[in-house]
This record gives sequence, structure tokens and C-alpha cells, in this order.
Amino acid sequence: MSGTVLVTGGAGYIGSHVVKQLGEAGRKVVILDNLSKGFRNAVLHGELIVGDAADIELVSNILTTANIDAVMHLAAHTVVPESVADPMKYYGNNTCTTRNLLTCCQRTGVKHFIFSSTAAVYGMPDGPVATEDTPTLPINPYGRSKLMSEYMLGDLANAGGPSFVILRYFNVAGCDPRGRIGQSTPDATLLIKVACKAALDPAASLAIFGTDYPTPDGTGVRNYIYVEDLAHVHLKALGYLEHGGESRIFNCGYGHGYSVREVLDMVAKVAGTTFSVREESRRPGDPPSLVAGTDRIRAELDWEPRYDDLEMIVRTALNWERHLFGNG
Ligand code: UD1
Repeated sequence: MSGTVLVTGGAGYIGSHVVKQLGEAGRKVVILDNLSKGFRNAVLHGELIVGDAADIELVSNILTTANIDAVMHLAAHTVVPESVADPMKYYGNNTCTTRNLLTCCQRTGVKHFIFSSTAAVYGMPDGPVATEDTPTLPINPYGRSKLMSEYMLGDLANAGGPSFVILRYFNVAGCDPRGRIGQSTPDATLLIKVACKAALDPAASLAIFGTDYPTPDGTGVRNYIYVEDLAHVHLKALGYLEHGGESRIFNCGYGHGYSVREVLDMVAKVAGTTFSVREESRRPGDPPSLVAGTDRIRAELDWEPRYDDLEMIVRTALNWERHLFGNG
């Protein structure tokens, strides 16, 4: 029932929080990460193997020798505008890597697969929230690269492959409340991280990308979810599959959103400072608004958010940024 779990991308921002919670739950974990964006010291539990999830020989060897029952696949590129500028990077690292990894899972008989997908598969939903039944019409290569992986998982499961849970992440933010791990990528583009940097460093620049969206204040609206809540979803999904749950797709969010201006106001409030903000034109590939419908995940995974609190999320992100800033 409780076999070893392989987490790809487990040294990265979200993966390291998932690994931490798996360790706290007493699960045996192997982490596969090529450290392109991850950090060795972000791995608080388990055995880290440095390598690529696309490496069929390496992965087959790990799956067999470590007796892996379940794979959580988080290794990916995630930056929307970068995917527009360099689509092959995304189809390679996201789609082709997933294909290789699934080939290995099929060959070695992995039972369960948890896939980190994205709200970007919805594109620009018509209604105020996207449910799992909202049509998937991604508007950028990143979203398409993930949607192709979703299709592969479904097709492989129909052909006898692993049962799966696809988790469509909305906007992930914040970090470990004890401040041990966080979002450390130096060139990260995430709004809350960039804003926390600007609050601490007068030399850092900050722009609002688009003030003419059809949203209440003209700036982009996103559904921010605390990384600890998201990590917990992975453990719930694993338990669900291990207890015979059928393959399923779940949105990971809180069911309501904040605009860019609301986020920046919160960062200024928590930091107790002001910072200068430029207004720029829209960023390529950005939808106006993305908010998660969450009825399904609450009902079927028995998951409830524990930290639906933007102020607290921002406080953890700011503390982490102070820690990085203090360490140069
Ligand atoms: C993020 C994720 C993406 C995921 C999506 C789900 C990353 C790097 N991106 O993308 O993988 O699919 O959530 O919704 O993990 N903004 C500014 N100024 C900035 C930065 C951002 O105005 O300096 C705005 C953006 O235009 C957008 C909002 O803030 O409206 C959020 O942007 P960002 O934090 O970059 O996340 P997403 O692009 O939504």
C-alpha cells in the first residue's frame, strides 16, 4: 500500500515542499532533479539523485531498484512568456520529458502517477471561474505543452498504464512557515516574489504588465494558492489513488482571485513600505483572469484549504526574500 514515491523536480520550489510533507508523513521518497532550477539543500527528506527525468536509462534503473510504486512529476519549465519566446524548450522539457518518463513507468509497472499541470490549459475561460469541465483552450505554448502531457496520461491509462491524478495548479505562492525552503530562483518572474524583492531592494524594478484588462481594476486577476496547501493536495491525491480512486483531474486553487494591484497593496502593507511601480503593456500569453472552481477537489479528495489568507502567504514570501537578501 505505502511504497516508495519518486518525485521529479523535488529540489525545486513546489517539489521541495511536497517532499518535505511526504517525509513528515513518513513516506519513503526518492527525488530526481537535474538542479537546473532546484537546489540540493532544498531537499529536506529522502534520497536526491541528480539527473534528468527524460533520461530513460537512468529513470528505468531508479524505478526498478528503488521499487517505485508512485511517481509525482513536477519537473518542468513554467514561465509563460518564456514559452512564447522559446516554444521548443517547453515542448522538449515538458512534453517530451513526460513522454519518456511515462514510457519508463509503463515498462516497469508503476501503479500511480501524479502530474503537475496548470491552469494555463484553460486559456481564457468564458465564465468567472474555470472548472475541470471548462474547455481546455490554452493560449500559450506552456499551457499546450502541459495539455499534451495530460492527453498522454489519459491514453496510457486506457491502455493499462498507471492510474493518475492531474493537478491543475493555479498561482502558487509563499513558502514553508518555518522558513527552511522557499522560491529561490534568482530570475523568478512570479508576481509575489518580484514584489517582495522590490519591497526590500530599492534598486529592484517592478512593473504591472497590463492595466487595460477587462477586470475590476484593469490588472490581471489570479487565484493565489499557498504552497503548503498545494503540497498537501499531492499527499491527498496519492492516498486517493492508493485506495483505488479512479483517474481524475483536479483544480488546485481557492475559488477566488486577486488583481495585480491588490497583491501589490498587500505586499506594501505587510512590508510596511512603499515601492515604485511602472505600468507597462500586457505580457505575451497572459490571460486577463484565471480563477479555480474548487467543488470537485473539495468533494472527491476531501481537501480543504488551511491557509486561504493572502496576508499570511505574502508574509512567508517576504520572510523568505529577506533571508535570500540577507545571504546576498
Ligand atoms: C503562473 C505560473 C504558471 C501557471 C499560472 C497559473 C510560474 C513561473 N508561472 O503564471 O506556471 O500556469 O501561474 O495561473 O510558475 N505580473 C505583473 N508584473 C510582474 C509579474 C507578474 O504585473 O512583474 C502579473 C502578470 O501579468 C499576471 C500576474 O501578475 O497577471 C501573475 O503573473 P505571474 O506571477 O508571472 O504568474 P502567471 O503568469 O499567472
